[in-house]
Formats: sequence, C-alpha cells, structure tokens
Amino acid sequence: MKVFSPSSFSFFISLLSIFGVRFTNANTSQPERDLADFILRNYSTNYRPVHDPRTTVYVQVLPTIYGIVDLDELRESITYMIWQQYTWTDEMLQWENRSNQTWPDLEFDKFELIYIPVSLIWVPDVVVFNVLEKKDIIDRNQVIAKVYKNGTITAEFPQVLDTRCTFDISEFPFDTQNCTMTYGSWSLPSNEIFVTTTVNELTDLSGLVLHNHPEWDVIAMSSNNRNAAYLEDASTNATGERFSELDITLTIQRKPAYYIYVLIVPTFVISLINTIGLFSTKRERDDKVTMGLTTLLTMAIILTIVTNEVPKSQLGLPLLGDYVLFEILISSAGIIVTVVIIFIHERALLHRRYPPAWLLCLCLTRNERLDSNNHDIADIAANYSNARSANNNNVNPMNEKHQEILDMLRMHLLRVEKHSESKRQRWILEDQWARVLMNVDLIMMILFIIGNVIGTLLIIFSK
Ligand SMILES: *[C@@H]1O[C@H](CO)[C@@H](O)[C@H](O)[C@H]1NC(C)=O
Ligand SMILES: *[C@@H]1O[C@H](CO)[C@@H](O)[C@H](O)[C@H]1NC(C)=O
Ligand SMILES: *[C@@H]1O[C@H](CO)[C@@H](O)[C@H](O)[C@H]1NC(C)=O
Ligand SMILES: *[C@@H]1O[C@H](CO)[C@@H](O)[C@H](O)[C@H]1NC(C)=O
Ligand SMILES: *[C@@H]1O[C@H](CO)[C@@H](O)[C@H](O)[C@H]1NC(C)=O
Ligand SMILES: *[C@@H]1O[C@H](CO)[C@@H](O)[C@H](O)[C@H]1NC(C)=O
Ligand SMILES: *[C@@H]1O[C@H](CO)[C@@H](O)[C@H](O)[C@H]1NC(C)=O
Repeated sequence: MKVFSPSSFSFFISLLSIFGVRFTNANTSQPERDLADFILRNYSTNYRPVHDPRTTVYVQVLPTIYGIVDLDELRESITYMIWQQYTWTDEMLQWENRSNQTWPDLEFDKFELIYIPVSLIWVPDVVVFNVLEKKDIIDRNQVIAKVYKNGTITAEFPQVLDTRCTFDISEFPFDTQNCTMTYGSWSLPSNEIFVTTTVNELTDLSGLVLHNHPEWDVIAMSSNNRNAAYLEDASTNATGERFSELDITLTIQRKPAYYIYVLIVPTFVISLINTIGLFSTKRERDDKVTMGLTTLLTMAIILTIVTNEVPKSQLGLPLLGDYVLFEILISSAGIIVTVVIIFIHERALLHRRYPPAWLLCLCLTRNERLDSNNHDIADIAANYSNARSANNNNVNPMNEKHQEILDMLRMHLLRVEKHSESKRQRWILEDQWARVLMNVDLIMMILFIIGNVIGTLLIIFSK
C-alpha cells in the first residue's frame, strides 16, 4: 500500500524548495527596508504583540494539503505534505494610522505589505499535537512572513507531517476514514492565544487539497473548536487553565477498484468455477475433494492477503475478509454436499435401493421401474409350461427324450432370463440414480450459484 515512491517524494521537496525560494527573492527596496527597520525597532520576539495584555491573539490556521504521501493502516498513521498557514495580528507591527509624531516618513504609508523573516518577529507556538513525526521542508527561520499595514501577519510553513489516525477497517475496502489534526498553542492558554480556522464543511476542497493520492480521495474537511482543560493536580482533581484546541478533520475515502479487481472478482470466479466443477463433472469422489481443497487453499491465501492489509483489531474481520470467509463457506458446503451425494449414491447401489418417490417427483423424472414390458422370455416359458401340462396325458415314449431336452432348455432359458432380468433391473437402478443425481446436481449447482451471487451482492452492498 506504500504507493508513493521515494522519487516522487523528493520531487515534492524540490517543488517546495522552489516555493520557498520565491519568498526569499522578494525585492526589498530601500524605503521598504527603512520601514522594516523602523517597525522592528524596540520589538521583542519573546512576548505576545499586544498593547493590552488582556487582548487575545487569534491565530487562524489554514492547512493546505499538498498531497497525502502515505497511509499506513498497520501503523495507523497518515503522512501529509502540508503547508501550514498561520494568520494573526501583530499590534506592534502595524503602520496604518500611526500618529504623525512617531511616524518619520510619510512615504511608508504607501506600502500595503512588507516581507519580514519569521525569525525577527513573534510567532505563535501553535503546533499539531497528535503528530508522530514532523519534518520541516525548509528551516522554520527561513520562512518569510507577509506583514500587512494593518498588522495582519501571514506565515506559511511547509512540512511533512506524520499524524496518528485511528482507522476503522470494518468496511475495508469500501471504507471512509476520519483523520484529525489537533492544533493548539503548546504553552499559552485560550485567553492568550485562541486558535481558529476558516475551514468548514462548506469549504471548497480544490484549493485545499492539491494532489490526490492514488488510493485515497479527500472528500471532506471539517473543523471543531474546543476549550480543553487538562488535569493539573491529580490529588485534588484541579484542572488548570483552559487551552484552545482546534480539530481539523479530513474525511478520506478509499478507491476500492484495486481490491475489487485483485481480490473480490477472482474470489468470486474461483468459487463459481468450484461450484460448477463440483456439480457438473462425473461423480469421482477423489477428484472432487482434491478440487475443493485446491479452491479452499486459494481462498486461504487470499484471506491471508486481506488480513495482512489491515490492523489486527479485536473488532473482527473487515468486510473483504467476511466476503472471502463467506466464499470459503460456500465452497466447503459445496464439497460436503457433493461428497454426501456420492456417498448416498454408492450406498444405494450397494444395497440396490431405488431413489425414493419424493426425489423422483422433485426431479421430475419418470419412474421407469414399473413399466417393464419386456417379459417375452418369461411369457414364452410360461406358455410352454402350460401347453406341456395340457398335453401331459397322451404320453409319447418317443417324445420322452425330447421332453427332457426341452425341459433342460427351458431351465437354461429361465436362468438366462433371470440373469438378464437382474441385469436389466440393475441397469434401471443405475440409470434412475444417474438421472436423479444429475438433476440433484443441477438443482444444487443453481442453488449454490444463486446463493453465491446473492451473498456477494449482500456483502458488497451492505454498507
Ligand atoms: C528591485 O527594485 C529595484 C529598485 O526599486 C528595481 O530597480 C528592480 O527592477 C527591482 N527588481 C525586481 C526583480 O523587481
Ligand atoms: C525605543 O525605546 C527607546 C527607549 O525605551 C525610546 O527612546 C524610543 O523612542 C523607542 N523607539 C520607538 C520607535 O518606539
Ligand atoms: C499626519 O499629518 C498629515 C499632514 O501633516 C495629515 O494629513 C494626516 O491626517 C495626519 N495623520 C494622522 C493620523 O494624524
Ligand atoms: C485605520 O483607520 C481606518 C479609518 O479610520 C480604519 O478603518 C482602520 O481600521 C484603521 N486601521 C487600524 C489597523 O486600526
Ligand atoms: C488587514 O489587511 C489584509 C489585507 O488587506 C486583510 O486581508 C485583513 O483582513 C486585514 N485585517 C484586519 C484585521 O482588518
Ligand atoms: C467521520 O466523521 C463524520 C462526521 O463527524 C461521521 O459522520 C462519520 O461517521 C465518521 N466516520 C468514521 C469512519 O468515523
Ligand atoms: C476526581 O475525579 C474522579 C472522577 O471524576 C473521582 O472519581 C475522584 O474521586 C476525584 N478525586 C478527587 C480527589 O476529588
């Protein structure tokens, strides 16, 4: 699932460096430098830039997602390439409406904004809390802030952020995940620094998400302000100052095409072929069991692939895992049904049992056991026997010998007839079972295919 190669990653970095260079190349003319020197005189980077200490500094956060670099379900982390834009007001740096006494050069008024490196000004200590790893693409002090004449300052920090994100994989691969970035001032409480944002559910994402991930789409961004209180003293339950925290939540949706083509379709097809194979080929127990076991082995491998893709949570298997399990059950049931059918068939032939009537009715097969009209030999023998007993009175000694031969012939004839009748009966038995079981196989095959299709649709569209 690590789709981003290192080369595309360094490509991001080089792009970003070009972006950073754009700021450092700003043409600074002499009056602009005088203005910067003037407003930075007596300036302290250590204290909040407010005249009245009761004033709250509102820091507006605007993250621009350059791209999602990586998303690791097993580590439960998401890595973004992100431009963190902070906007705040610095009362010490404004040059609009300054009284003429402290304003030496009226020329300054014509500047709308100037660029000042952030190392020279106060920067709010707003960070992302739930970060596993942070990498600044350009050094924080090299970032140039835009300072407007009304004191509004905008600074943009490009970073690679690896944040923790708890995945709910129960609907994998049709899942949607919420990944939250929690912003806040590390040290200052909410009455000193308050974190806000313009991001909300209605924000147009095209400007905030620049590059799409091949597997994931960002479908929504939302924000939520909180005033969090942290326990300061566990013995008294005393909570300390309240801190302003801002959650920006990205809702990302997986593109399931890969998993559909690579896992779901093959699983379905394998199971389908298994069903057709089991119920349409000749009844050879060994072959069928071997075939069924091969199918099960394939399924087990697919199930391993699926479980390796997702964290092992106690919530059970993801949707895709459930699906593979379902196909395993269908295939196993198919094997068991075939083996049972073969077993019944063999035992019935052994004990010369005819298919029960309900099975014949169910399978719409004509009962051919009774319409045996081939009694010719038996009839002849019976007729002969009758005729002989009728003629028994006029004993002809010359015929005595012939009579003996004829009797022997008759007995042989009867034996042959009996044998052929038993063969015929056996043939009828086998034929009837063959017909019945062919229909049973057909019905089972149709039932299994319908069950498979319905189960597949139910599972896939259950979300
Ligand atoms: C920089 O400013 C100087 C003086 O105003 C001007 O001559 C020059 O063309 C400017 N350069 C750029 C790249 O804007
Ligand atoms: C800077 O501070 C000094 C002494 O505190 C003061 O004399 C000077 O006027 C101040 N300059 C500005 C621009 O405020
Ligand atoms: C500063 O002085 C100029 C003329 O000297 C005047 O036009 C302007 O209104 C004054 N600005 C302020 C803020 O007092
Ligand atoms: C400067 O004065 C104008 C007009 O009075 C006002 O609209 C603006 O808000 C003032 N700017 C600042 C930073 O106080
Ligand atoms: C200051 O000026 C900038 C640029 O003109 C504007 O976007 C911003 O809203 C202004 N800030 C205030 C507090 O008026
Ligand atoms: C993501 O957040 C939205 C809005 O709060 C919620 O409706 C949805 O259920 C969440 N999704 C997950 C997977 O937690
Ligand atoms: C602190 O709060 C917890 C839960 O709210 C409570 O069980 C506990 O008794 C409290 N401890 C003190 C010292 O008040």
